[in-house]
Amino acid sequence: MKFLDLAKKRRTTYEFGNKVPSETKIKRLLEAGRWAPSCTNNQPWEFVVIKNKSTISKLVRTANYGDFHSDPSMMIAIVLVEKRCLGKNLSCFRGVDSKVHDSYMSCGMAALQMVLEAADMGIDSCFLTPEQVSAKKILKIKKEDALPIIVGIGYKKKGSFQKKRERINLKKLVSYEFSGGK
Ligand SMILES: Cc1cc2nc3c(=O)[nH]c(=O)nc-3n(C[C@H](O)[C@H](O)[C@H](O)COP(=O)(O)O)c2cc1C
Repeated sequence: MKFLDLAKKRRTTYEFGNKVPSETKIKRLLEAGRWAPSCTNNQPWEFVVIKNKSTISKLVRTANYGDFHSDPSMMIAIVLVEKRCLGKNLSCFRGVDSKVHDSYMSCGMAALQMVLEAADMGIDSCFLTPEQVSAKKILKIKKEDALPIIVGIGYKKKGSFQKKRERINLKKLVSYEFSGGK
């Protein structure tokens, strides 16, 4: 499949069945995350693989928003590890000049690589932005670390609920040479 077709094929799934991807496939997802780009190549993440149904259900309920009809069969939590962002990597964490937290963006890139790899293997996925205090407690994440995003993985149920997917027209998104330039 051409990359753009894959990018369009990937979509957020809101209703999953029970089937869990094989260990080989899970390994590929983790590899895709591991090879994501990151600020100063600090690779600020750790990946927590979750298969326990009760943990998954608790985590789904920490989503800042969501319309999940049934839980994914597994999850990968992308933990932002503060110690990887200190010293020479401090600007990645604080976004000194840009005021943009590059390490959070890096975690998003790892998450995106995972869901695209999933789509390539015919596996469905979703994203979840968790409420920090409760989600960190569930996963025993250290106080100084963060949990920017959780990827839900599984296979959608046949005829599952799907949201209409829309995108802003390119004409409204693109300008040339300067912001607003025609
Ligand atoms: C950083 C990020 C966080 C997201 N967090 C949530 C979430 O907490 N709950 C949810 O239902 N969807 C979440 N989503 C999924 C978006 O709602 C979804 O990507 C968007 O509606 C576009 O739909 P599509 O993924 O099918 O293209 C998140 C997506 C991103 C990129």
